[in-house]
Amino acid sequence: MERLDKFLSDTYTKSRSKAKELLKQGRVLVNGLPQRSGDVKIDPQKDTVLCDGVLLTARPKRRVLLLHKPAGCVTALRDREHKTVMEYLPPEHRDLCPVGRLDKDTEGLLLFTDDGDLAHRLISPKHRVKKLYYAEHEGTCTLEDVLAFREGLTLGDGSKCLPAELEILGEGKSLVTVTEGMYHQVRRMLASRGKPVTYLKRLGEGSLHLGDLPLGMTRELTEEEIASLFPV
Ligand code: URA
Repeated sequence: MERLDKFLSDTYTKSRSKAKELLKQGRVLVNGLPQRSGDVKIDPQKDTVLCDGVLLTARPKRRVLLLHKPAGCVTALRDREHKTVMEYLPPEHRDLCPVGRLDKDTEGLLLFTDDGDLAHRLISPKHRVKKLYYAEHEGTCTLEDVLAFREGLTLGDGSKCLPAELEILGEGKSLVTVTEGMYHQVRRMLASRGKPVTYLKRLGEGSLHLGDLPLGMTRELTEEEIASLFPV
């Protein structure tokens, strides 16, 4: 069940105040009867809502799935040689597309969606969505490495990284937070500081965390979780 003013604003007016105005003017019919209050709850699957004679239908719910990706599979829709991440999705969700990519040898949080705008916003560096990685590597990071990450590293091929966070966890273990997703970025960032990566796992993206989702398993995000990815 959903509030009538929210339903009108989601499907038609794009604004709650405009929806209230239409309601007040008696231009909205629910199951054939004029309805002037936005507080009324409707069932968008069962109730018929007309505004100025136009039938309003609920947008199909967008789906976002979170996979705990194991190592050894590629982020691709199909691949002749390797197992793909798609094989871990329940059959009814295999029409979704991965949001960005994780390397074959990287584990961790990988999202899938049918909402192209949402995928674009998550990937685009413009929106500065943080991706948190746990890395094991040769050598141990130093304060100089932390400062170099903060400054913005230049990789072997000359590409310039946006400022990133490096947290030293201990001998050969670090946390890295980036807001962009260049090819093999975290591996190349650590390699550029003489710390080749031996194990990499994405722990978080924006407000989302892997939590205790077992390796190879998926779960569907709630609308609240999706909304929390882009706090206003
Ligand atoms: N950085 C990498 O190097 N690999 C990934 O899979 C993700 C980020």
